[in-house]
Amino acid sequence: MTRHLVDLASVGAEMILEWVSRARVLRDMPRSEREKICAGREVVHLFLEPSTRTRVSFEIAAHRLGARVIDFDTEASSLQKGESLYDTVRTIEAMGTDALVIRHGENHAPNELAKRTRGAVINAGDGTRAHPTQGLLDLLTLLDEFGDLAGRKIAIVGDVKHSRVAGSDLVAFTSAGAEVVLVAPPELRREDVPPGVTFEEELDPLLPTLDAIVMLRIQRERLDAELALDTEAFVARYQLSEARLAMIPAHGIVMHPGPMNRGVEIVDAVADGPRSRILDQVGRGVAVRMAVLEWSLGGAR
Ligand code: NCD
Repeated sequence: MTRHLVDLASVGAEMILEWVSRARVLRDMPRSEREKICAGREVVHLFLEPSTRTRVSFEIAAHRLGARVIDFDTEASSLQKGESLYDTVRTIEAMGTDALVIRHGENHAPNELAKRTRGAVINAGDGTRAHPTQGLLDLLTLLDEFGDLAGRKIAIVGDVKHSRVAGSDLVAFTSAGAEVVLVAPPELRREDVPPGVTFEEELDPLLPTLDAIVMLRIQRERLDAELALDTEAFVARYQLSEARLAMIPAHGIVMHPGPMNRGVEIVDAVADGPRSRILDQVGRGVAVRMAVLEWSLGGAR
């Protein structure tokens, strides 16, 4: 059976938590056993926007399950000759591949493909909307830290308007019972926010109440031309400095999906300090992507 993952909002809390528990089982499984799970399967990577960790992490996850990855070189493809995304995907599928992991600059591009393709479609980030596996890996990081998220308060800070990570994190965290606060200046707020999620403009008064803070990069490439964001003012108000970190209770952790703009939303000492879970997040990405690939591919062939 072919199963798509386009966003977390459409799958529900139960499935989200199931992927997270399956990720824990898969990461502890002996290699020889794990490699049989999706043996013989083929996953095509179609990344139309830059990616470091997501792409490599999906690739490692597929290999660990015994599947093969075909990396589609979008620069050297007929997409550059005006072939539509749909025709490109249909052409690849005609070769008998099983799943497509896609990153695209336009919102809903994976949803559209999922309606019209034979193989599974897994969203690796669409525009400003969703990045479901990032939501899952961030949730796994928090659950590994705190056991459960009931009564926990998490702030997502910075360019939440253009961040697809924010879009998926807030669904993932609220599904596990956490309280989520989005912290941003008015011009960087987002609209697709589920009930219960609140906005704050000021970060400092919140800090003593937090269990975790997720810092986000300003998505310069997506800022409207008319929005002249003043970086200095942003830094003064939102940068996670050592002084701000000291205001978060001692058990509180720091997260960031990467790529970081050091010196803007976060300083080196915090990013590399003992309360940072940034590299732990990366490690967990492989585990949740194995869970999603297994679910989507439905086993070996
Ligand atoms: C992000 C993305 O591409 O959505 N990175 C990631 O996948 N971990 C965040 C970003 O680009 O800022």
